[in-house]
Amino acid sequence: MDGSKNSSAERIPVLVVGVGHLGKEHARVYSELESTQLVAVVDSSLERAREIGEPLSVPAHDSLTSELLNSIKAASVVTPTPSHLEVASQLIKAGVSVLVEKPMTANVEEAEDLIRLAKAHEVTLQVGHVERFNPVVLAAYPHIQNPVFIECDRIHPFSFRSVDVSVVMDLMIHDIDLVLNLVNSPVAGLEAFGTRVLSETEDLATARIAFENGCVAMVKASRVAIQKSRKMRLFCEDAYISLDYIAKTGMRIGLKEGFDRRSIDFEKMAGLEEKQGVFPIFTQYFNIQQLSISSEEPLRSELSSFIDCVQKRTPPVVTGQHGLQAIEIALRITAEIRRSQENYLARRAHYRPDERPDTEFLKNQ
Ligand SMILES: NC(=O)c1ccc[n+]([C@@H]2O[C@H](COP(=O)([O-])OP(=O)(O)OC[C@H]3O[C@@H](n4cnc5c(N)ncnc54)[C@H](O)[C@@H]3O)[C@@H](O)[C@H]2O)c1
Repeated sequence: MDGSKNSSAERIPVLVVGVGHLGKEHARVYSELESTQLVAVVDSSLERAREIGEPLSVPAHDSLTSELLNSIKAASVVTPTPSHLEVASQLIKAGVSVLVEKPMTANVEEAEDLIRLAKAHEVTLQVGHVERFNPVVLAAYPHIQNPVFIECDRIHPFSFRSVDVSVVMDLMIHDIDLVLNLVNSPVAGLEAFGTRVLSETEDLATARIAFENGCVAMVKASRVAIQKSRKMRLFCEDAYISLDYIAKTGMRIGLKEGFDRRSIDFEKMAGLEEKQGVFPIFTQYFNIQQLSISSEEPLRSELSSFIDCVQKRTPPVVTGQHGLQAIEIALRITAEIRRSQENYLARRAHYRPDERPDTEFLKNQ
């Protein structure tokens, strides 16, 4: 998958635009892959471009020149989201295939423009939803059939970056993309709640997404937590799957073959549970399987898959359409959060102290 047998003559010339926190990792990976030749790094801060370019022995630029555009076949766009359309358009118009970081653009209209442009210029447009390449997710995929209920948690301390977009567009969008891809059914409706804490937009958000096929997803994101947690739990028709992206672990629990719910002697089992604990009893009815997780770096898999698609002219794993769908749902969630905030404020305005719950009884506790 990483094209490691390519000779240097077959290497695809690439560059990275925006070498901040994440872009420097794109530049590093391109300089390591056998399928690519990192030609240059570009950043509106020339100082930053030099800081990243020098150790990788590539020239640093503060803008895209026509000479640079003519020298490359593919590029990563890792600038702040509001500039994605402008930067990616410049590359696409020069016939360069692009991997645009998530969220693909700031809104649906811009995303549609980018998809149209990539199609007109017949270049690859991939979106940086890197969790699709997370080995924990990849290990779970073969086990996920007909999810009925999905829970996602993505909790981070405040990073002071990406505050130009809400936590929904910043973090939750990873899970929105995964859930849309796993459920593969139109969204029937959604509810969402959230609030801002430190930035000008939402820092905390929770959403309940209902799908036409009956599946429901509860998605939670925070960028103002004390600790990190990134988990997904899936209840499928035949199994429960629990994934922890930080611990890099995954577990599938499925009912044993021939299991008959009516055969459980609940009274006897409750007695055993007190003596032995839940786990040994659990294994009588369930197969518990730890998923085997590869150690491959997600970004490396993502970028080598992108280059592979550019070389073979095959559709990327995460297309512009996927990027657009994720933005569409993220913006619906954001609008719903703001609507529920307005409802809350309106109710507060009419809230009378005598409507408070009676807490007298607590005094006697
Ligand atoms: N896939 C992921 O998991 C993930 C993680 C973090 C960030 N991101 C995305 O990557 C993008 C960048 O995020 P970051 O955290 O690296 O931001 P950052 O602020 O650390 O870096 C952005 C860099 O782009 C440069 N820049 C700004 N405008 C530019 C322009 N027009 N042309 C060239 N350079 C420009 C800045 O000088 C800066 O060095 C965002 O869209 C963000 O949502 C994705």
